[in-house]
Amino acid sequence: MKTRLTRSPRVAAEFIRRGEVVAFPTETVFGLAAAIFNEDAITKVFAAKGRPADNPLIAHVATFQQIQTVASLIPPVANDLIKAFFPGPLTVVLPKSPAVPKLATAGLETVGVRMPSRQLAAEFIRECGTPIVAPSANLSGRPSPTTWQAVKSDLDGRISCILIGQQTEVGLESTVVDCTGEHPLVLRAGAVTLEDLRLIAPATDLASDQQQTQPRSPGLKYGHYSPRARVHLVDHPTEAGAGLNSAWIGLTATAETGQFRLNLQCGSVTEYAHGLFKFFRECDQAGIDVIYCERVPVSGLGLALMDRLRRASGQL
Ligand code: TXA
Ligand code: MG
Repeated sequence: MKTRLTRSPRVAAEFIRRGEVVAFPTETVFGLAAAIFNEDAITKVFAAKGRPADNPLIAHVATFQQIQTVASLIPPVANDLIKAFFPGPLTVVLPKSPAVPKLATAGLETVGVRMPSRQLAAEFIRECGTPIVAPSANLSGRPSPTTWQAVKSDLDGRISCILIGQQTEVGLESTVVDCTGEHPLVLRAGAVTLEDLRLIAPATDLASDQQQTQPRSPGLKYGHYSPRARVHLVDHPTEAGAGLNSAWIGLTATAETGQFRLNLQCGSVTEYAHGLFKFFRECDQAGIDVIYCERVPVSGLGLALMDRLRRASGQL
């Protein structure tokens, strides 16, 4: 199939109305959209990504009314989080509406719901005239795409359209919070931090690894976010072996970091998160064997960044 490139949210949305799949930019990463009430279209999303059928998709909405068309109930705590953080990089898991095909939620009775804050994403979803499903627009197992070029390199010829936009702002996927239990549980860390969530819902907790053995967020059991190169986490550049085929990404700049073939010096944890997945892909293109990544403190956005770094290094 020929993949159409467009900058027009209206042109992109026409493909959704016809039951096709479209990649589009959000503030977190690029998503791969299909109309949520159309099972054939959802099947195309799983096929294009090579995604296992037991990994549920997140519903994306443009308005607060649309939340009620995909969820059967909004518990009070979820309502508080929605009011505080929508639109933005937060996904709340709610009891699903019977109208949402089980195919979309991988058989679960719950549905993740998110309202992207990026203007172009909101316009696109509004033009679609329906909530959409949207996993990250990468081939399954690859790092999430933060540029349209990354989407093209994974999915050209496999999807109908790419809505072109600038590199995504956050660079890591949304925070996923399960709001169906006694306390909100963070299933996936993201740019809405644990500290942010606790300001609104003080009982919010991190889902422990024990709770994850019966995975409440099934996607987390898959090796994710991985470049082809090996990823090593280090505390300081002196622990890393600068060499012809190694790369460095981190906050610290020293004489050593200049010795790496590729080297991304980040001014802050925010910049590190923003640039990480693009850097992984650049390393793969350059044929890098080992990427040394500097660890960061696990507070604020650092929790999400360390989660992705650990997964990329094969530690989860
Ligand atoms: O930032 C994001 O969330 C991006 C953009 C495109 O919005 N989307 C994204 O989707 O990252 P995906 O499919 O790559 O990751 C969704 C994650 C998976 O780990 C999945 O298992 C989890 O959310 N998830 C989805 N629905 C769920 C549910 N009902 N219960 C528990 N976890 C769920
Ligand atoms: Mg993904």
